Amino acid sequence: MSATERAASRSADDRAGSPLVPGDAGSRDPVVRVSSLTKRYGEVVAVDDVTFSLVAGTVTGFLGPNGAGKTTTLRVLLGLAEPTGGEALVFGRRYRELDQPVQRIGAVLESNDFHPGRSGRDHLRTLALAAEIAPRRVEEVLALAEIEAVADRRVKTYSLGMRQRLGLAGALLGDPDLLVLDEPANGLDPVGVRWLRTFLRRFAGGGGAVLVASHVLAEVAQAVDRVVVIDRGRLAANAALDELTGGGRTLEDAYLELTGGEMS
Ligand SMILES: Nc1ncnc2c1ncn2[C@@H]1O[C@H](COP(=O)(O)OP(=O)(O)O)[C@@H](O)[C@H]1O
Ligand SMILES: [Mg+2]
Repeated sequence: MSATERAASRSADDRAGSPLVPGDAGSRDPVVRVSSLTKRYGEVVAVDDVTFSLVAGTVTGFLGPNGAGKTTTLRVLLGLAEPTGGEALVFGRRYRELDQPVQRIGAVLESNDFHPGRSGRDHLRTLALAAEIAPRRVEEVLALAEIEAVADRRVKTYSLGMRQRLGLAGALLGDPDLLVLDEPANGLDPVGVRWLRTFLRRFAGGGGAVLVASHVLAEVAQAVDRVVVIDRGRLAANAALDELTGGGRTLEDAYLELTGGEMS
């Protein structure tokens, strides 16, 4: 069943994606749980005692200036780096302990490796083959990412925006319940950014959870339900969008206050 079909079969109450109530942990486990996560690289404390969680049906903006620790947090979450302390769990487990990670989590990190001489379609077919996903799903994700028109071109001829969409198409192959995106709007033009926001809203509307890291507030502000702000490795805010905004205060105002007004 796809995220969209699941949406139809869910009660309105369920879809609302209300935050986990303490004491109700058994009935609604968070999709992501980051607990007291610390990651050091030698002297550098990239992530410093960070705690937050995500529930299904929500888009969470993971915001902070360059160097704040966003990518490091995502890398630990995806099992690409080991925590120095604390833990980062997806669906209650460490990423590497998941049975079928591709069908649960789709991720697009900053450095996407595509074989430059391969076409986008071939790239996706290779991924599908490795993950034992039916080839027809490749056509579906090409359509979802709206890159059918360039699917047979070599990836080396793609713009950065097309590569972002190809990365997203790859992340969708397993029809995951969680999308983890690192700076997904890099290289997208304004039409692309708007498309991305709509896409993320729809994904969450179908019951999926999204964690989207960005240092550019405007890209994600209109798409998120919740905001986790990190600054110099430390959690600066973890709140619903409407808790941070309102009364003439914009998310940008809140963000600049929380991060000491540093723009990057
Ligand atoms: N592999 C690494 N080795 C050493 N330092 C690192 C490494 N990865 C990240 N860092 C440092 O950790 C901090 C956080 O980086 P990062 O997580 O990439 O931030 P962001 O994604 O928010 O821009 C930075 O000071 C960065 O230089
Ligand atoms: Mg980063």
